[in-house]
Amino acid sequence: MLNWWGGPYGKTWQSTLGPIRTSAGQVSVRPIRLRDAKTWSELRVRNEQTLVPWEPTGMGTWEQRHHTSQWGPLYSALRSEAKRGTILPYVIELDGRYVGQLTVGNIQRGAVRSAWIGYWIDSEHFGGGIATAAVALGVDHCFGRVGLHRLDATVQPANQASQAVLAKVGFRNEGLLKRYMDVNSQWRDHLLFALTVEDLPTSAVEALVRSGRASY
Ligand SMILES: CC(C)(COP(=O)(O)OP(=O)(O)OC[C@H]1O[C@@H](n2cnc3c(N)ncnc32)[C@H](O)[C@@H]1OP(=O)(O)O)[C@@H](O)C(=O)NCCC(=O)NCCS
Repeated sequence: MLNWWGGPYGKTWQSTLGPIRTSAGQVSVRPIRLRDAKTWSELRVRNEQTLVPWEPTGMGTWEQRHHTSQWGPLYSALRSEAKRGTILPYVIELDGRYVGQLTVGNIQRGAVRSAWIGYWIDSEHFGGGIATAAVALGVDHCFGRVGLHRLDATVQPANQASQAVLAKVGFRNEGLLKRYMDVNSQWRDHLLFALTVEDLPTSAVEALVRSGRASY
């Protein structure tokens, strides 16, 4: 149920989503925790090569930015934004183990009711359908309890894996955003993918299950 400005009643960022079954195992999505520090740091440092080409440019070295000590302040900032209703910061779990993150950001209410969605997965688990399942779970939550109408995802043209994830969930390519984001120290073009409530006859998870890519 939504209030007068299009926001949900209740703490939607505290929801756990799933699980659904993929070829890799059971995928679920849960809120970030303060005790995720060690795993977050280990996975982010180990995956530097696969993440750097696609992620926003940051200050300092990758290792400094992903030292265990950096999680506390990041967690607090994300949590306070989540409480304000502008972000949903989630961890993606495979069979109960932290294997990546799903974030819904820039949540806008009122007549727009939109947000962006972003994600990354530990490269050890690439190709198992985990990101696709997590995005589908996130989409259904956003279009359900959170009360959003539109989700955007911006992807560099060279990021084929991410575009495949979005296509499998039903996002459409709406065009090219020139020099859209500062990534790996350069302003990079991004494709804008989007999905609105009307695009899904039932739900994103339901469509994945019907296509044989996941099961309950
Ligand atoms: C993008 C990412 C999240 C995908 O995670 P994943 O769990 O491997 O995704 P899935 O297994 O659900 O789907 C990946 C799809 O991409 C396809 N794919 C992978 N590499 C590809 C390539 N080079 N060209 C075309 N398709 C490719 C896979 O075949 C699969 O599609 P299929 O199921 O139809 O075969 C992961 O690669 C990642 O974390 N990358 C680094 C961070 C990133 O790019 N984040 C998104 C920024 S927009």
